[in-house]
This record gives sequence, structure tokens and C-alpha cells, in this order.
Amino acid sequence: MAGETLLKIDNVSRSFDLRGTVVHALKNVSLQVPAGSFLALIGPSGCGKSTLLRLLAGLDTPDAGALSVNGVDPFTLRQQGSIGMAFQDPALLPWRSVRKNIALPLQILKRNLDEYSARIQSLIELVGLSGFEDAVPGQLSGGMRQRVSIARALVTEPNILLLDEPFGALDEILRRQMNLELQQIWMKRRPTTVLVTHAIDEAIALADSVAVMTSRPGRVVEVVQIDLPRPRTTEMFRSTEFHAIADHLSELLFTHATA
Ligand SMILES: Nc1ncnc2c1ncn2[C@@H]1O[C@H](COP(=O)(O)OP(=O)(O)O)[C@@H](O)[C@H]1O
Ligand SMILES: [Mg+2]
Repeated sequence: MAGETLLKIDNVSRSFDLRGTVVHALKNVSLQVPAGSFLALIGPSGCGKSTLLRLLAGLDTPDAGALSVNGVDPFTLRQQGSIGMAFQDPALLPWRSVRKNIALPLQILKRNLDEYSARIQSLIELVGLSGFEDAVPGQLSGGMRQRVSIARALVTEPNILLLDEPFGALDEILRRQMNLELQQIWMKRRPTTVLVTHAIDEAIALADSVAVMTSRPGRVVEVVQIDLPRPRTTEMFRSTEFHAIADHLSELLFTHATA
């Protein structure tokens, strides 16, 4: 099933009209993400990363070009529950418990929640929130709220996982810890994943390939393969190989950001 998934972004352009001025958020972006693989999108602020993710999520439509997974368009995929999403702001409902926040996508899809209690419980364990099932978001730390948001993204068992700077608001130490946790979670089912980040180390830690974008108009300048073995470890982050990739990515970013 997941083995057949091929995510395709084909010559996609999207611009916005800002009070008479046209902003070219994306211009002729093409990318392919193989089944069960993890792509990181990295680029300067405003280069169209979130725009691309919204298009992939079926929350927006391109001016030109097409996006699909195995030929199916994002809007249909989202309606089937095939897409899981988590963003920088965990956007939890403050009056709902952890369990009920995680269940939300199932409710939107009008599924019978009674059939999913075991799945929700195992997700709570997977993201390390056992014992907090009935807590409300106000009783959780920032990292715990972000874990709820990741569990919520996984509850429909999506083939496609879209993450937009999910750890951007966390401190450095917690972010690294969450990176390794996300890797463990991802390795269990290997959904085809697109992660937007502006952190080079996060991209290398998690991705099979990193697409480097540049702004105005947003384009992909290079896709860099990350051949580090999995699971990736903190020791690896200190290796010469890791630093060589980081140097290359940062050179690409800075060369093109100032062009
Ligand atoms: N709904 C919108 N209306 C107008 N302009 C937008 C809209 N969404 C994005 N943009 C513009 O498109 C560009 C890319 O934005 P975005 O995709 O959010 O960048 P990133 O996520 O890489 O920081 C920015 O210049 C932004 O102002
Ligand atoms: Mg963004």
C-alpha cells in the first residue's frame, strides 16, 4: 500500500495579489518523493515553503502545474484521510483532552470513535504521553503539546505526512530531542513525508533528501541526498559526514538567498 505511493509536484506555480502587487510565491517547482521516503524542504523565510505544503494538503490550488500522489489530487486525498498534517502552532482545542484532540481528524471524517480507542491509546504511548490522556492543553508543556499534534496527524494512519516547522517554536535542546523522537515514530510506518524547516541540522537528521529553495520567486535550486544510515543518532550529528552535508546545504542557502 504505502509502497506504491509516489508524491509528485509537477511544474507548480502560485502567486498572490497583494494590493495590486503580484507576489510570485512559487515558480515552476517540480519535485518527486518516492514511496515511504522523507523529504525536507529548506529555504529562507518567505520562499514559499508553507505555500507548497498548503498545496500538497489540498488547502490551496496552484495557478499552474499539478500535485498528486499516485495520480490522486491532494483535495481528494485529504477527504479520504490519507494526509496527516502538523504545523508550528499545534492548534489544539483548549477545552478538549489529549485523547479528544487526537481523535479530532477521525470525527471530521465522521468515523465511529468507539472503533478507534485502541489506536488512539497506542498513539498516546508512541508519542510518550501515557498518563496524560485526560489532561487539557493548558496543563501540558510546549513539547508535549507538539507531541499531541503529531499524534493527531497520525491518527488516520495517513500515507502522507506534512509537517510545517513543527518544532520551530521549541528551544534548541527540546527540538533535537523531538527530531529523534519523530524519527522513531516515522520509522514505525514510514509515511511519505514532507517536512518544512529552516534548520539545516533538523533537515539532515530526518530526511532522505533535502530540497533547497530560494525566494522571489520560490524555486528549488538543488535536491541533496542524505545517505546517513538509520536510525540517526546524536553521535552522527558530530560526524565529519554530517558537517560536510551541513556545509554544502548552508552554502547553497546563502549563495542563493543573496542572489
Ligand atoms: N494567502 C496569501 N496572500 C498573499 N500573499 C501570500 C499568501 N500566502 C503566502 N503569501 C506570500 O507568498 C510568499 C511565500 O510565503 P510562505 O509560503 O508563507 O513562505 P515560507 O513558508 O517559506 O516562509 C510570501 O511573500 C508571502 O507573503
Ligand atoms: Mg512558512
